[in-house]
Amino acid sequence: MRYLVTGGAGFVGSHVVLALLDAGHEVAVLDDLSTGHRSAVPPDVPLFQVDLANYGATSDIMAQGPWDGVLHFAALSLVADSVERPFYYLRRNSLTTLNLVEACVAHGVRKFVFSSTAALFGGADDCPSLISETASVEPGSPYGESKFMIERILHWADRIYGLRSACLRYFNAAGADPAGRAGEDHQPETHLLPLTIDAALGIRPALRLFGTDYPTHDGSCIRDYVHVSDLADAHLKALDQINERSVCYNVGTGRGYSNLEVISSVERVSGRDVPWEAAPRRDGDPAQLVADPALLRADTGWAPQFLELDQIVETALRWREQHPQGYDD
Ligand SMILES: NC(=O)c1ccc[n+]([C@@H]2O[C@H](COP(=O)([O-])OP(=O)(O)OC[C@H]3O[C@@H](n4cnc5c(N)ncnc54)[C@H](O)[C@@H]3O)[C@@H](O)[C@H]2O)c1
Repeated sequence: MRYLVTGGAGFVGSHVVLALLDAGHEVAVLDDLSTGHRSAVPPDVPLFQVDLANYGATSDIMAQGPWDGVLHFAALSLVADSVERPFYYLRRNSLTTLNLVEACVAHGVRKFVFSSTAALFGGADDCPSLISETASVEPGSPYGESKFMIERILHWADRIYGLRSACLRYFNAAGADPAGRAGEDHQPETHLLPLTIDAALGIRPALRLFGTDYPTHDGSCIRDYVHVSDLADAHLKALDQINERSVCYNVGTGRGYSNLEVISSVERVSGRDVPWEAAPRRDGDPAQLVADPALLRADTGWAPQFLELDQIVETALRWREQHPQGYDD
């Protein structure tokens, strides 16, 4: 099969590119390199350096098909930034995706996989302890809202044009390719695990831990960490699942770890202390977000290989030790 991956130079997209290649597919990447890295794209994979805001350029790439499917990772995805610039996020994430979806429909693409997010659920005070697909959607930020707008765009693209889609609502993507071919290098970095690893390695100053008074067993937030290669596998399984109908899945392990447990794990795996300091809670950070992945498992047979946090930390730490400056070493 021949797939187009938008955002394939970014963290999750680059791991999905590797999984598609490993499975024997042909892949091309569309990425404007705004937050991605040229060297995260394997040299033999074509890279179209295009901004999805440009409909003409996007449509030209779709015309270079046929594409058996499009996997869409390209987005603005900083939650706090989206609260600072709500209209920018709402406009840009929805319009870039509208351009892409319209070009897919115009050029006969039949399958679309979309990076949605657990931030769809972040705004509810009474979030269930395990969040299933039937939980009420209550985004806690314009970022989360923009992702929900895209899920609705895809609903209508299916209903009117038959574009089948899988909306994969990731919980916390983490870790790195076990073979060391790719890793996490966001600039700026806002994710807890890479920040904790960098604090342990002395690459960054002490970690700021936002909120130590949450109603959890140790006072810090609880999140569900899914290894990025397991996440990539969910994309391949979702592609097989959407021949007849569109689907929506929550993608996590079903197991939560607190922020303090993440720090302990990094200390255990690295053998180094993690310097950290307590900081006030951030707006919009719910106490706990843990997926109920039962539907994804039942429909597709997906089974994460990295269930223990230490295993996830181990792959992330190894990549970072080999790339202390990230991709631009
Ligand atoms: N990382 C996580 O834990 C997580 C969790 C939930 C959802 N997501 C979603 O998964 C997707 C990938 O996340 P990531 O962590 O890999 O992010 P990332 O920033 O590493 O990757 C995004 C990629 O898209 C590209 N891009 C952005 N805007 C573009 C545009 N207009 N045109 C073309 N390319 C563009 C960037 O250059 C980058 O390579 C995002 O949509 C994000 O919202 C990520």
